[in-house]
Amino acid sequence: MTIQYHDVFRRSLSDPEGFWAEAAESVHWFRRWNRVLDRSHALFYRWFEGGVLNTCYNCLDRHVDAGRGEQAALIYDSPVTATKRRLSYRELRDRVAVFAGALRRQGVVAGDRVVIYMPMIPEAVVAMLACARLGAIHSVVFGGFAPRELATRIDDARPKLIVSASCGIEPNRVVEYKPLLDQAIEMSSARPERCIIVQRPQAQAMLKPVRDVEWQDAIDNAPPAECVPVAATAPLYILYTSGTTGVPKGVVRDNGGHAAALTWSMKHIYGVEPGEAYWAASDIGWVVGHSYIVYGPLLRGCTTVLYEGKPVGTPDPGAFWRVASEHRVNVLFTAPTALRAIKREDPAGAYIKRYDLSAFRTLFLAGERCDPDTLLWAGRVLDRPVIDHWWQTETGWAIAANCAGLGMLPVKPGSAGAAVPGYDVRVLDDAGSSVPAGTIGNLVIHLPLPPGCLPTLWNNDEGYRQSYLSQFEGCYATSDAGYIDDEGYVFVMSRTDDIINVAGHRLSTGGIEEVISAHPDVAECAVVGAADALKGEVPLGLVVLKAGANRPGETIVKELIGRVRENIGPVAAFKTAVIVDRLPKTRSGKILRGTIKRIADGAEYAVPATIDDPAILDEIKRSLGQVGYARGGKPSA
Ligand code: COA
Ligand code: AMP
Repeated sequence: MTIQYHDVFRRSLSDPEGFWAEAAESVHWFRRWNRVLDRSHALFYRWFEGGVLNTCYNCLDRHVDAGRGEQAALIYDSPVTATKRRLSYRELRDRVAVFAGALRRQGVVAGDRVVIYMPMIPEAVVAMLACARLGAIHSVVFGGFAPRELATRIDDARPKLIVSASCGIEPNRVVEYKPLLDQAIEMSSARPERCIIVQRPQAQAMLKPVRDVEWQDAIDNAPPAECVPVAATAPLYILYTSGTTGVPKGVVRDNGGHAAALTWSMKHIYGVEPGEAYWAASDIGWVVGHSYIVYGPLLRGCTTVLYEGKPVGTPDPGAFWRVASEHRVNVLFTAPTALRAIKREDPAGAYIKRYDLSAFRTLFLAGERCDPDTLLWAGRVLDRPVIDHWWQTETGWAIAANCAGLGMLPVKPGSAGAAVPGYDVRVLDDAGSSVPAGTIGNLVIHLPLPPGCLPTLWNNDEGYRQSYLSQFEGCYATSDAGYIDDEGYVFVMSRTDDIINVAGHRLSTGGIEEVISAHPDVAECAVVGAADALKGEVPLGLVVLKAGANRPGETIVKELIGRVRENIGPVAAFKTAVIVDRLPKTRSGKILRGTIKRIADGAEYAVPATIDDPAILDEIKRSLGQVGYARGGKPSA
């Protein structure tokens, strides 16, 4: 395939309106837009203003009408329950229509919010699409979050209704969701009128009379609902993501821009055709799950795979290759962590040889920085292109990639590829000036963002402006640092805020610090993301106790670990904290988290000129050494 990338990219920036109007032709519109891009509210751009569509119609009905009714829309593969199920486009459309009817019967109308707190089961996808069918706004919360996190999201989204399930299934345990949901509702001030609960055989949920309805009862005799026409600019969903404090940000996704961008991305980034099978091994609780388990593949008329399992242990490191082979997956998308887990158990790739992977073309990776070793290993054992690409919950689709559908560029390990058409990516220094190629700085996207990216934060235009648009004039700040080389390849190196990436899951160290600081014995603390061979990063806590706190340190550390698990959730993977006499600070009192991280990782560290007492760094190094960190590493000369 000839490389079209450069021409397409140039055109997308020189004529964004023309470019995206053309892309939007592949979407079915009830009414076409008045303006491709509404620039009338400075900074708050809106795509396809005046357009009317329905995202669910574009995902399901139109494909059934066009003759894809019998094609598999969704394959549910659940090694943890030994279940496999295939739903055709017609079956999925019918189920979604009935569940939308059930939601409507419970009073849900366009614009209402519906929180979805569910494991990876087909009903979760049905619930999302049913909301889209009605023009209701879903907000999916990842099952690994604790009740308090769920409560924060409920309070912000103020849902009319919550859809949940009796349990999720982790390889080592059944996680009962209903008690967590009940606690969250108890804590929240915006209690929903109804909860619809899927009863799974692995655990039976206790239902609260009146408020809780079983899924089966909810859909009994529910009249199927038609697709409600929705404004292109109306929200399709809210997805909360970690911000720089414990309070998550409600990223809003619109209907029109999202449908146009994702459809375009399926063809041009992933290079998949209608009828092919696409599998994103993620969770519907994350943006990857929204965009590429649910919406992207269905918008494009592909078969999507919903996998309830892990890369290893369900039952072995061949799980991904088994699924890819059985369902004739053409394109697979996962996080580097999953590959590292597989590599650790099957370094020679012996399991790969057991499966027929003749349909499998390309592997895409995202969610965290991919170390070149893992990328090269995967390329070697799979003998296929392995493409790292960079994106965020906020953008909803890739900012930089190697676009398989536009003729692949040579892969550079360590780089997430070149800017995707539509994204004007630049690198600026802290003062906002451009830096030369190869120089690290702040990665920003010159406005307007392309369609599909967040138009704002839920009920918080000012927060959107403050968090993303105020730092660099005319640009969206990604909060990632990195560089662009002289061939336009983007290298994403680290975050510029307190976000860490644990097994591809985005967490705020500030949020963890808030939980630790609330412990009665804690005077102050610092949490940093320490390098981890499997998960990329894991949170590591340094804790200073209050004078007079005289209980054993081990007991307090155990309590802190328990508190983080209880308040944020097991997904935080907070397992290590050390008690120290004091924290390294600048003379003005700022905790030197960057230095702590370098010491923990065993990297060379500069002794900051502003530190109040350099001797403290040796103390920190000793303490971290006792819990297995700070191996090697020394102050730089
Ligand atoms: N509901 C409840 N608990 C959950 C959960 C869910 N949906 N998902 C994860 N958890 C729990 C796990 O059981 C685990 O609990 P534990 O501390 O009791 O063991 C904890 O949260 C951490 O889970 P996880 O991040 O999955 O780590 P792990 O050590 O169990 O597994 C990997 C390691 C590498 C196999 C796993 O992290 C993985 O599959 N990573 C890929 C990540 C990914 O796809 N990210 C999507 C971004 S694109
Ligand atoms: P999330 O919003 O959970 O998708 O996390 C987004 C963050 O993950 C980004 O801001 C980056 O810090 C990081 N990230 C995602 N993809 C990549 C990648 N390919 N390379 C480096 N970092 C990445």
